[in-house]
Amino acid sequence: MKIAFVGKGGSGKTTLAALFARSVMASSPTAPVLAIDADINQHLAAALGAPEDEAVLLRALGDHLGEIKEYLRGSNPRISSVTAMVKTTPPGRGSRLLRVAEPNPLYDRLVHTVAGIRLAVTGPFASDDLGVACYHSKVGAVELLLNHLVDEHGEYVVVDMTAGADSFASGLFTRFDLTFLVCEPTVRSVGVYRQYVSYARDHGVRVAVIGNKVDDDGDVDFLRQQVGDDLLTWVGRSGFVKAAERGRVLPIGDLEPDNAAALITMRMALDKCDKDWARYTSQAVDFHLRNATAWANDRVGEDLADQVDPEFMLGPTALAAVH
Ligand SMILES: Nc1ncnc2c1ncn2[C@@H]1O[C@H](COP(=O)(O)OP(=O)(O)OP(=O)(O)O)[C@@H](O)[C@H]1O
Ligand SMILES: [Mg+2]
Repeated sequence: MKIAFVGKGGSGKTTLAALFARSVMASSPTAPVLAIDADINQHLAAALGAPEDEAVLLRALGDHLGEIKEYLRGSNPRISSVTAMVKTTPPGRGSRLLRVAEPNPLYDRLVHTVAGIRLAVTGPFASDDLGVACYHSKVGAVELLLNHLVDEHGEYVVVDMTAGADSFASGLFTRFDLTFLVCEPTVRSVGVYRQYVSYARDHGVRVAVIGNKVDDDGDVDFLRQQVGDDLLTWVGRSGFVKAAERGRVLPIGDLEPDNAAALITMRMALDKCDKDWARYTSQAVDFHLRNATAWANDRVGEDLADQVDPEFMLGPTALAAVH
């Protein structure tokens, strides 16, 4: 299952993504889990419990885009070269597909184990990038991975996303089985929820609101009033999180029971989601065609609509055919 954490800046996306991944690993130690930090501010490694100096040493997806494209392209005859492969280029026959956990050269190089959790990072927006590159090219690596990834129930890809509506700069926001929108009981946080849902609605994106930093019943009432049935559960203001903030990462078993229960509710909601590979595939194609006409055809000098393989549908059948 592919899961996004979105919401207003500072609402707790990274904190909850890390807690969610840790809680899944704690209750199902053999479950395939892959956490991905797709935020400009790269804090997921630290939130998982990596020392700061270790976090800066992680090899970043954004710095290995060529390698990622080369691998995923495989022998797909519709993709003329690595440079013709853009972030939205969909898989087709001949492409390499990914599972959540498997031995492959990309994961060998780009997936790290941080505090027991498998983690890939897009990499920070470096000062070299200022004015010449945009963050979207780095996040493009995540879009490519997700578009080639066949996951099942009981497998979890947990993506920590950029704040607010920045996620809509690409098709990435449609790549998830469930989007957890982290929302503090404040007018501004709810405002980001409204904006997100209004963009997402047209694309059939499933959004569940997770209240965060909730202090009392009044906070829950406020959230319920503002977001209605979209409120799935909430996490209270947490001493466990505060301790981590001060450098003391406690074992996940020490998390406050109500907050641990909220994480389980989130997992159950996710496990209930059905997978629709036909829709997933056609949305990828849709966004690719839009990007092709908007900028990519000009950039590459080809009609990138030709990259679409009309006979291909991502999913377990395609995966079985490759393996
Ligand atoms: N439930 C909580 N209880 C106490 N503190 C919290 C809780 N959730 C988050 N925080 C604190 O709030 C701050 C912001 O959290 P976090 O970094 O997870 O937010 P974010 O949405 O990822 O922010 P950004 O938009 O910068 O990526 C951190 O200091 C974090 O420790
Ligand atoms: Mg964050």
